[in-house]
Amino acid sequence: MAIQSSRVVVLISGSGSNLQALIDGQQAGNLPINIVAVISNRPDVYGLTRAAQADIPTVLLDHKAFANREAFDQQLTQVIDEYSPDLVVLAGFMRILTPQFTQHYLGRMLNIHPSLLPKFQGLHTHQRALDENETRHGVTVHFVTAELDGGPSAIQASVPIIDGDDASSLAKRVQRQEHIIYPLAVKWFAEGRLAMKENRAYLDNELLPEHGYLIESHEH
Ligand code: GAR
Repeated sequence: MAIQSSRVVVLISGSGSNLQALIDGQQAGNLPINIVAVISNRPDVYGLTRAAQADIPTVLLDHKAFANREAFDQQLTQVIDEYSPDLVVLAGFMRILTPQFTQHYLGRMLNIHPSLLPKFQGLHTHQRALDENETRHGVTVHFVTAELDGGPSAIQASVPIIDGDDASSLAKRVQRQEHIIYPLAVKWFAEGRLAMKENRAYLDNELLPEHGYLIESHEH
């Protein structure tokens, strides 16, 4: 019996390279998903162009038009739910989310964060890893909970930090891993293999370690 494709809504705020990795996976037949909508909180971002080029419906919901965070998140919930998604994917969606919003999608919303969580929550992760003289850095895909960059990890990829790296060269190395692990996590979820229970992530009913499934890249 063929697996029915999962309905996915992707939220973006920027260039959408992670969105593109998912579009490519869907179009290549590697991902059992149907990206039913792409929603951006910022106008004129390249991610919206990528979605339109792939014939995916787009919605612009400018947070500046709302009086407060609660009002924006309420409207966002309404818009997302019109598409009845199985999974909500935050792909560079640069918003702090209200607890009501995270609770509504608990266990069915993933985020990608450019650090080896729990290290370097928040912004400017690449520069902070360099400033702290880390030898490795990376990226985490995790379930979203009320705790900012704090939900259970599904998968993490680490890369070496190399002499002469700056935030930009390091970000590029990390992003190559982002485009591998995000489609993988989404595939697992869509296949029913990845789940969150009692604030822990499970793969094939096995409890994942704190950092999630681990991939170590040695790419320079
Ligand atoms: C990605 O690098 C992602 O890890 C980061 O934003 C970038 C979006 O790039 N997310 C965060 O920093 C979340 N706190 P993209 O628009 O090209 O996918």
